[in-house]
Amino acid sequence: MATAGILPGIATKIMKTTTKFDIVDFHAHILPGADHGCISVDDALFQLNSASAQGVSRIIAAPHFYPHKHHVSTFISKRNSAYGQLRSHLTPDMPAITLGAEVLICDGIEEMPELDSLFIEGTRTLLLELPMNTFSYKYTESVEQMTRAGIDVIIAHADRYDPENIHQLLEVGARLQLNVSSLNCIFLKKHIRSWISEGKVVALGTDIHGRDKLAYKKFARAISRRSLNISRIKTESDKIWHRSKKSINT
Ligand SMILES: [Fe+2]
Repeated sequence: MATAGILPGIATKIMKTTTKFDIVDFHAHILPGADHGCISVDDALFQLNSASAQGVSRIIAAPHFYPHKHHVSTFISKRNSAYGQLRSHLTPDMPAITLGAEVLICDGIEEMPELDSLFIEGTRTLLLELPMNTFSYKYTESVEQMTRAGIDVIIAHADRYDPENIHQLLEVGARLQLNVSSLNCIFLKKHIRSWISEGKVVALGTDIHGRDKLAYKKFARAISRRSLNISRIKTESDKIWHRSKKSINT
């Protein structure tokens, strides 16, 4: 794994003032050309400036990895190249970035070669996406095998899916990331409130795609809700972030 020089994956070393909103955006599509979520460097800079304006200082870049389309090595190469392209445009007032991936589950994913290359860099955390309209008991088996192997499986935007399916994955050790769009309503869905109160949610994300002017405003609004136990989520996100940075800094 690349760890030195200008190689990709190096978090931009930016010291920023910690604010009450200083929680990691755990899921963002901000790397130019890495996937459909960000087409150009200008788009990426728009996204990063939007984040800065809302006090977001840390972002995990998570371009889509589709097992039926991508090879791990070529995906990583493309992702790292996208980061390299962006890096020279970053300024100290922009968020720090760590590289990850949003990995679509498939049958037998636990045995996919080079799976560890898709972890958030420097960690054993895998941001795992499910198909929208289908679920298989095989997914539960795969997640169980991964968690038993010590992989920290975090289900991306768990709020999108049938809660019964998510409960199966929780039973075998998965943890959850929510998109903040699910938190910007007056009354939270009961299962979402339960997941948060039970400590199942460890990360929040914008899942920003393109020049979304509202994404980081929604993020800031969601994490300022007094009724949510954001501090607990922040603590868990910070643990992963710090593991990531520690590795990157070696
Ligand atoms: Fe996403």
